[in-house]
Amino acid sequence: MCQAERVDANDIAGDLTEVLFTPEQIHARVEEMAREIDRDYADRDVLLVGVLTGAVMVMADLSRALRIHCQMDWMAVSSYGSGTKSSGVVRFLKDLSVDIHDRHVLVVEDIIDTGLTLSWLLSNLASRGPASLEVAAMFRKPEAVRADFSCRYLGYDIPNEFVVGYGLDYDGRYRNYTGLGVLDPKIYR
Ligand code: IMP
Repeated sequence: MCQAERVDANDIAGDLTEVLFTPEQIHARVEEMAREIDRDYADRDVLLVGVLTGAVMVMADLSRALRIHCQMDWMAVSSYGSGTKSSGVVRFLKDLSVDIHDRHVLVVEDIIDTGLTLSWLLSNLASRGPASLEVAAMFRKPEAVRADFSCRYLGYDIPNEFVVGYGLDYDGRYRNYTGLGVLDPKIYR
């Protein structure tokens, strides 16, 4: 158990073993990522593709931190059931609403764990002929080094723990916790 620095409506300090990042730290890093994206896409129209549902928070904050114009679209895939380990099985739940042929696509992800989900998603998107295809992820776990793609914009590397908050859930809960914390294993064991 630990004391979460800022717990609001969702008082979850007792469910965490550690707070990895405060909301302030997350927002500071999002701002830095936005400046990199502003610079790299200064002369290109970028389409941000969010992966539901985990990426809603980073998409909302990152898009509003950008100074360049952007468009947004969403995909929904599912790789986790109610457990805490990647199943490796990706289910496609919702496709994009727009054609990405010749578009500059930046996929916005909450977390890369094994990278299986993104790897599958990127090859699917690449087959549609985008002008460019890059990844922005807020968090990345160590196993992701084995993934067959690179993450161009990264928030933070984190330890190999099951984390919640800032869009990340356990069994549908904790997404609206504004920091990022390690979920106490007593919750899922
Ligand atoms: P991957 O395919 O192993 O990279 O897992 C990707 C997806 O699993 C992420 O987009 C998250 O939705 C979910 N996920 C992975 N690690 C965590 C975690 O620590 N907490 C909550 N969800 C996670």
